[in-house]
Amino acid sequence: VESDYSVPVPDPSLPTPTAVKIREITAEDDGKRVEVNGWAHRIRNNGGLIFVTLRDGSGYLQCVLTKKLIKCLKAKQLLAECSLKIMGTIKIDERAPGGRELKADYWQLLGGSDGEVKAKVTFESNPDVLLTNRHLVHRGTNASNILRIRSHTMKAFRDHFDSRNVFEITPPTLVQTMVEGGSTLFALDYFGQPAYLTQSSQLYLETICPSLGDVYCIMPSYRAERSHTRRHLAEFTHVEVEYSFISFDDLLNRIEDMVCSVYDGLWERHGDIIAELRGKGETEAPKLERPFMRLEYMDAIKMCNEGPNPILKKVTRTNEDGSVETEFVPFEVGDDIPEAAERELVERIGRPVFMTKFLAKMKAFYMERDAQDASLPEPDQRTLSADLLLPGVGEVVGGSMRIPDLETITRKFKEEGLSLDDYYWYIDLRKYGGFPHGGFGLGLGRFICWLCGIDHIRDVTLYPRIEGRCKP
Ligand code: 4AD
Repeated sequence: VESDYSVPVPDPSLPTPTAVKIREITAEDDGKRVEVNGWAHRIRNNGGLIFVTLRDGSGYLQCVLTKKLIKCLKAKQLLAECSLKIMGTIKIDERAPGGRELKADYWQLLGGSDGEVKAKVTFESNPDVLLTNRHLVHRGTNASNILRIRSHTMKAFRDHFDSRNVFEITPPTLVQTMVEGGSTLFALDYFGQPAYLTQSSQLYLETICPSLGDVYCIMPSYRAERSHTRRHLAEFTHVEVEYSFISFDDLLNRIEDMVCSVYDGLWERHGDIIAELRGKGETEAPKLERPFMRLEYMDAIKMCNEGPNPILKKVTRTNEDGSVETEFVPFEVGDDIPEAAERELVERIGRPVFMTKFLAKMKAFYMERDAQDASLPEPDQRTLSADLLLPGVGEVVGGSMRIPDLETITRKFKEEGLSLDDYYWYIDLRKYGGFPHGGFGLGLGRFICWLCGIDHIRDVTLYPRIEGRCKP
């Protein structure tokens, strides 16, 4: 009856349906009566039939609602993003998207929608609108595929460490110490005491080596980063590892082993989603050339400066009259290679490269020095450190060997102006059985950008935290 708002009534003579998730439906279900629950991803009215593409997170299913089912006024509420329960018979049909469809015999509106929601976020929306409506963006095919890959990637890292007998721990993120320099600390009031959001779980990982040997964690790290780049966030997911009794060479080999095994495993199990996100029509994983190139920092500086088309350093100067001048000059030893130059360098090399042995003055206080440089002034000594640069992104991993002995680490703390009392537990690690060890941190978002060919770390982050935005 046209005026009736009530939904169709299920036909009691039909077989009882089995509630299924869309991805569970196979060719064997042809002719079976099922119940699916989900959201109307797309709705198309076609000559009196309504085609609903139902999305339940596990997949998409075309459901066909015949005239008889949509003759009620309630059918006017079938709008994009409403939630529905639909019962019907599975029909395997090559012409349908995904090779099957549901011929509905009953539907029920679970939660209405205004149908306008799709217009809130479109391909043309500006980045700020997209960030404000990120909770809606996640309903889209591309964004949900990124979330899927993110979940699979975290599992792949866990599987990798598990297979190498590395234990997972969960260090606290509320801390009273700094690891990567004071300038990017988020300070907070901890029951009347000063505290910070952690920049890295490294120091805590180190303390657990004498307990578990090799340990890792996947935890958030925080940096009060003012730089608005496509690879920096104020909060990021940090995969960090610490290995006992290894050499610097072992450290590089383990990073390489991890990147390759996670990469291979993800392509093997989820290559279809990765290829779709990359959008290059690849049918298999692009070859990852091994071993990764190893390039000392000093040689990288030379490489930037040499040849007919050098990679130059951008220097901006403000003159007395307030005018700003920009100049491009060669890099000097001791310069940090900034993001754009670093990306250009790895682009030219064309494959993953470890940039190694940064000078002590450029890096964190805890890094072990290269014994070969013992006769040089300390700031000019090379450290046993490495960044892994990946094409398209640049630095994805940063790691080093740690100063193992009590005397040196105590001196470094004093030079940094850090209180030995605050770090007594870290110092104790050297007091009671100091040992050669090293580890690294990998930015999960940057890794996924590289894997899936995505430019911006925001696009692979659930709810990105950047300066000026803390919601949703
Ligand atoms: O090089 P970083 O600062 O090293 C550390 O924090 C060490 N304590 C890690 C360790 O040895 N356990 O950071 C490591 C990686 C970087 O290579 C980058 O991928 C990521 O963490 N990262 C960030 N990702 C997103 N936004 C930021 N602001 C990031 N800062 C670092």
